[in-house]
Amino acid sequence: MNSSDKILLRALRGERTARAPFWFMRQAGRYLPEYRALRKQTPNFLEFCYTPSLAVEATLQPIERFGMDAAIIFSDILVIPDALGVAVRFEEGHGPLLTPVDSEKSLEKLDSKKLSAHLAPVYAALAKTKAALPKETALIGFCGAPWTLACYTVQGKSSKDFAQVKDVAKAQPKFFGRLITLFSDAVIIHAKAQIEAGAEIIQLFDSWAGVLAEEEFAKFVIAPTKKIVAAIKAAHPDVPVIGFPRQAGVKTLAYVAQTGLQAVSIDGSVPLEWARDNLQPVTVVQGCLDQLLLADDKAKMLEEAKKILSVLGDKAFVFNLAHGILPHTPPEHVQALCEFLKQYRHD
Ligand code: CP3
Repeated sequence: MNSSDKILLRALRGERTARAPFWFMRQAGRYLPEYRALRKQTPNFLEFCYTPSLAVEATLQPIERFGMDAAIIFSDILVIPDALGVAVRFEEGHGPLLTPVDSEKSLEKLDSKKLSAHLAPVYAALAKTKAALPKETALIGFCGAPWTLACYTVQGKSSKDFAQVKDVAKAQPKFFGRLITLFSDAVIIHAKAQIEAGAEIIQLFDSWAGVLAEEEFAKFVIAPTKKIVAAIKAAHPDVPVIGFPRQAGVKTLAYVAQTGLQAVSIDGSVPLEWARDNLQPVTVVQGCLDQLLLADDKAKMLEEAKKILSVLGDKAFVFNLAHGILPHTPPEHVQALCEFLKQYRHD
């Protein structure tokens, strides 16, 4: 099978496929017993990500169990700040912890020269995964978008609204602009290298896009994404880029119109009918089943999946979740959803 015949790639080109292709954010991870067993071997999460044999196995686990239409390489968005020299750690129960970069002076410590060498294990894992995947399964590479990377790097940890980062962006515009530029350039390098190693699609995760009001959204989300998409297109015109401006609501329309992305991943901040009427005429939509419903209520979840397909399935559409699979999700619910999606035909 030609790479371009894979059902996910056909849908991302705008073709309405007989069934909607599907994959799930965080389809690899702690809800799978085989992932928890593998992860025990290497308590340090980044070390796990940088060990190609482990990353490949974690990437393939959900494909072997459920047969999604795409594998997403097992890595993390924070490998970019890590590769630039920000010390990144993951602590059980705390999520990521980074040495905060919040001034011109702390910016001097970041260095993009070693980026590609530092991330070489990610590229090795992509090449090995590509060779091992079933011929019909697409391979997705990904990066965090500059605003979301800046959120974690300035704050140094997770936050519910990153208010402190918005304050820094206002109080030190020159510093913050340099940080966004640094991350934009790093994302371009990392995305292109992932494609060269075998990724057929790139997804940009802007997990914290939704905390920004219109003006900042244009400056820190739309503008850098536009630059990144143009650079990827210039080198690899056939590789689709999916943007995920989480919680962006109606701002998603400007995001799509101004960035040149092929597809947009949506969540509950975007009503289904609004997405059908406003987004589907201009782009391919991906989404947007509530990950809590997937974890907690199998019957209601299948009803909701049907509803999503009945509203968005008339056009090219990629089925996914609103956000990543939660650790307490029973694998059996994911199994039921995959079986439903494989047999569903929209007439
Ligand atoms: O299956 C996949 O989706 C591929 C792998 C993947 C991971 N992280 C693995 C991971 C992907 C695509 C990501 C993206 C990511 N990482 C995002 C964007 C998507 C989102 O969730 O909004 C963000 C913000 C991060 C940063 C990050 N990494 C956080 C906040 C955490 C801690 C929270 C948590 O769930 O523990 C991580 C750790 C992480 N990344 C885990 C996994 C499987 C859990 C680590 C473990 O196994 O203990």
